[in-house]
Amino acid sequence: MANPELVPPGVDATRPSPARMYDYMLGGTHNFQVDRDATEEFRAQLPDLEDAAWANRGFHGRAARWMAIEEGIGQFIDIGAGLPTQSNTHEVLHAINPDAKVVYVDNDPMVLVLARELLTEDGTTAVIQADLRDPDAVLNHEEVRRLIDFRQPVGFLMTAVLQFVGDDFGPWGIVDRYVAAMAPGSCLALSHITGDKVPPRSIATGVQIYTRATERAYPRSRAEIERFFAGLELVPPVAGASPALCHVGIWGSEDPAAADTDGSRVFWCGVGRRR
Ligand SMILES: C[S@@+](CC[C@H](N)C(=O)[O-])C[C@H]1O[C@@H](n2cnc3c(N)ncnc32)[C@H](O)[C@@H]1O
Repeated sequence: MANPELVPPGVDATRPSPARMYDYMLGGTHNFQVDRDATEEFRAQLPDLEDAAWANRGFHGRAARWMAIEEGIGQFIDIGAGLPTQSNTHEVLHAINPDAKVVYVDNDPMVLVLARELLTEDGTTAVIQADLRDPDAVLNHEEVRRLIDFRQPVGFLMTAVLQFVGDDFGPWGIVDRYVAAMAPGSCLALSHITGDKVPPRSIATGVQIYTRATERAYPRSRAEIERFFAGLELVPPVAGASPALCHVGIWGSEDPAAADTDGSRVFWCGVGRRR
């Protein structure tokens, strides 16, 4: 994708995109020079950026596994899924349950361009281009209705995506709409960038860089992020802990002390269950 001639139709390669920047942070190749430059500019102020991205990706996979193994959930909607990467959600889940259904949702046109990397021959996955700010469009999409039975528990994954939805759009009300569609026993895994434990200059640089991107970024406090779980019961992040938010490296980790890195502290996360 480094060659500008390979820019697919409909993709804006003149501005960085959150999906392509994240792909670059994870060592992927689905990004352009503009994404790499923006990411390096951010990394100059936040040297733990790559660790932060990997810690978040680790939470995503562990939370999906937990829902499949501990809660027996067999259908998932991955909202703000990102570009195909290592350990795609369906690959994590099919190692546990080959029949698990996964719908990937993202508003970045590159995700549809690369959709074939996320599709399986047996039709257990789907990729749709939709904006999470329109829950009706997502929940009523024909591919969602084909694969997801809303009378049964659903695993919703909204990791590192709500930070791209400003307060003006009412992100808490949007999440409430998804929660309202959940059958009892459904779960929501959510992570979100925070400036709570990050030097103010580092986070301000990130916010400034994303003003040039296809989406702006809005770091939030722990209290603001916890509000996304209204109506759900938070589950303990590790065995023996109290139900609470934590940093992404810690959730589901075998060694929480070792997982509590500076990069991990760039995100708060949690998993909530619908009673
Ligand atoms: C930082 S990546 C996170 C990817 C993946 N969820 C993870 O945690 O590993 C954020 C993704 O959210 C997508 N995104 C941002 N705003 C969105 C919106 N309003 N609707 C759907 N997807 C969105 C971006 O295109 C990008 O792919």
